Amino acid sequence: MPLRRQLLTLLSDGDYHSGEALGDVLGVSRMAVWKHLKALRAAGVRINVQRGKGYSLPAPLELLQRDAILAAITPGVRVAINDVHVYLDIDSTNNWLRSRALAGAPSGTVCVAEQQSAGRGRRGRDWVSPFAASLYLSLLWRSNGGAAALGGLSLVSGIATLRALQALGVEGLGLKWPNDVLAGQDKLAGILIDVVGEAGGPCAVIIGLGININMPAAAAAAIDQPWTDLDRLTGDTAPSRNLLAGRLLSELMPALKKFDQAALQPFMDDWQQYDLVDGQRIELSLPNESIRGTACGIDDGGALLVDTGEGRRRFASGEVSVRLAS
Ligand code: BTN
Repeated sequence: MPLRRQLLTLLSDGDYHSGEALGDVLGVSRMAVWKHLKALRAAGVRINVQRGKGYSLPAPLELLQRDAILAAITPGVRVAINDVHVYLDIDSTNNWLRSRALAGAPSGTVCVAEQQSAGRGRRGRDWVSPFAASLYLSLLWRSNGGAAALGGLSLVSGIATLRALQALGVEGLGLKWPNDVLAGQDKLAGILIDVVGEAGGPCAVIIGLGININMPAAAAAAIDQPWTDLDRLTGDTAPSRNLLAGRLLSELMPALKKFDQAALQPFMDDWQQYDLVDGQRIELSLPNESIRGTACGIDDGGALLVDTGEGRRRFASGEVSVRLAS
């Protein structure tokens, strides 16, 4: 195990540990411990330092662990997961998986990270990704239907995410087209879908999920929309991230299979039940214009239907974002 991960594992109880004691366990000098902790702090990991006591994390922490994630996946789904790759620090789990997909990685390859230095959101936005504050997870799924058949995939991923959170006892969630999971008006989770392949042929889809868990206030200052996290929603009893990752994969994989076979049709009831904008006055931002109207559900390809002053229009998810009109 890399030394920095070993250090974090030792600190994960949230107690203070002296540099000397850490060095003894790891077989390195006190100075080496200090250098590695300094590098972790420079990368954004919050580590308290107190004279006479040593180093501690602000709170106990369960690091992401491959085996714990695999163990939390429903046995019937586990066979469809190729492997789970865990990183302390990565640019973006979607970017990593995209390059693995181009190198031929199989369907069911998963990447999770404790933090991302270049986390991406939809429409070219950044996704704020501080250390251990959220779940950053990407799943590679290979589809034979071609990129053109993928309309609606983001909606299905949103439904699977909501179902996984519900299974862990999180209540009061809804979906905002195309793929945000919200609690009230506040965003809890977002989904970014990257596609590698051709319109008509086989393609690789990278489904990236970001779920806020315990977002530190300093990092949250950079989030440019109303947000919430699982700690707030559960009164500081957010489920373990390993368990959450396992649950998400247990919901996502069967949903993707069903989508491959029958497109959006089996998901329509769920969408209608959790659609937070249906019947609401909304404002759509497109690359070159903004449009107001009343949301009236989705079509069977997952496009948003909107009644505007000039009749009903449909919008595919690509470069569109939606907010409730003021
Ligand atoms: C959005 O709502 O704009 C989508 C956010 C998606 C964020 C996740 S975090 C894991 C994966 N890696 C990324 O760089 N982005 C996605």
